[in-house]
Amino acid sequence: MKIVKTEVVRVNVKKPDNAIILKAANLIRNGEVIAFPTETVYGLGANALDTLSVSKIYRIKGRPPDNPLIVHIANMKTLRTLVTEIPPTANKIIKKFWPGPITLVLRKSKILPKITTGGLSTVAIRMPKNKIALELIKKSGYPIAAPSANVSGKPSPTNASHVKEDLDGKIKLILDGGSTEIGIESTVIDMTSNIPVILRPGGISKESIEDEIGNVHYHSSLIGLRRYKGKINKSPGMKYMHYSPNAQVILVEGTEINVNIKVAELTNKLKSEGKKVCVMTTNKSLKVNAEMVQYMGKTLEAIARNLFGNLRKADKNSIDVIIVEGTPYNNTGFAIMNRLKKAAITCIRV
Ligand code: TXA
Ligand code: MG
Repeated sequence: MKIVKTEVVRVNVKKPDNAIILKAANLIRNGEVIAFPTETVYGLGANALDTLSVSKIYRIKGRPPDNPLIVHIANMKTLRTLVTEIPPTANKIIKKFWPGPITLVLRKSKILPKITTGGLSTVAIRMPKNKIALELIKKSGYPIAAPSANVSGKPSPTNASHVKEDLDGKIKLILDGGSTEIGIESTVIDMTSNIPVILRPGGISKESIEDEIGNVHYHSSLIGLRRYKGKINKSPGMKYMHYSPNAQVILVEGTEINVNIKVAELTNKLKSEGKKVCVMTTNKSLKVNAEMVQYMGKTLEAIARNLFGNLRKADKNSIDVIIVEGTPYNNTGFAIMNRLKKAAITCIRV
């Protein structure tokens, strides 16, 4: 791949500078790929209606071609051009949560090229809340296809330097809007079945969706402790290993006291084997003999916001093993545990 100079330009997220947004939008119009912030994680965007532009995203990320992209829009008029129908329940979700961190899977119209949807008859669409993202979409005049702006398999980027770590020399521009607000990706929900199915838990919880539209299901691959193992999968992204820092991740879940004991015990064992250990904990006063201790945060929202950054920080410190404490499964906790299980090589319940 040709090496390009990657420019990182700081943009005020509350009041994005018009000239910078125009420059970025022109790159999109010219078939280039650029990185930009959303409220969830940074995206790697290109014109969703153009096959050649979208093919560059797959190449830059090293993403398998059967893993479709999310199409980002800035108004309802564009939505109607991209899908064949909007069920009433989808409309309710849109009214309540858009712009925001929830992606709807709907039946696609003909204007979307195959590559954008990985050959599926459906398309995943969301209207982001971040002003930089919205302005960029508006000024470019196109819906923007954007996966998270990381190299495939790595934790999603929640600030511009994470993007640079992964994509320096591969894209011309990174719009730097600071740290993202939510920190984990959007919820992906399939609205094409009678009862909507959550394919990926994320920024909007199952509980809050159910408050709006009643019963929704989690896709079967999301339930239970088992890791995904080659079953029929509705969201192609679910079958790939994800969110993996270079360090090995061990997830420990259970009652607070048991977790604390297990974490200390594991740390000592790994240290005696000469490993560099990082502990990620919600217990501020935890005493362990690790090289690095990272406080995960007090609320589930804070834990989500810091999660991917914490995993990347451990890599920066050449940590061999990350021991991370599990969270409860309610609300945002379900999405956090989903990411941790995908990152972990071992999950221990005590
Ligand atoms: O928060 C987010 O959603 C971020 C920001 C940039 O918007 N984007 C993001 O994209 O996380 P990505 O590509 O990393 O994840 C998209 C997920 C994948 O799991 C993919 O398989 C699924 O959405 N997906 C996309 N189109 C789909 C479709 N038509 N049917 C089912 N799943 C789909
Ligand atoms: Mg991703």
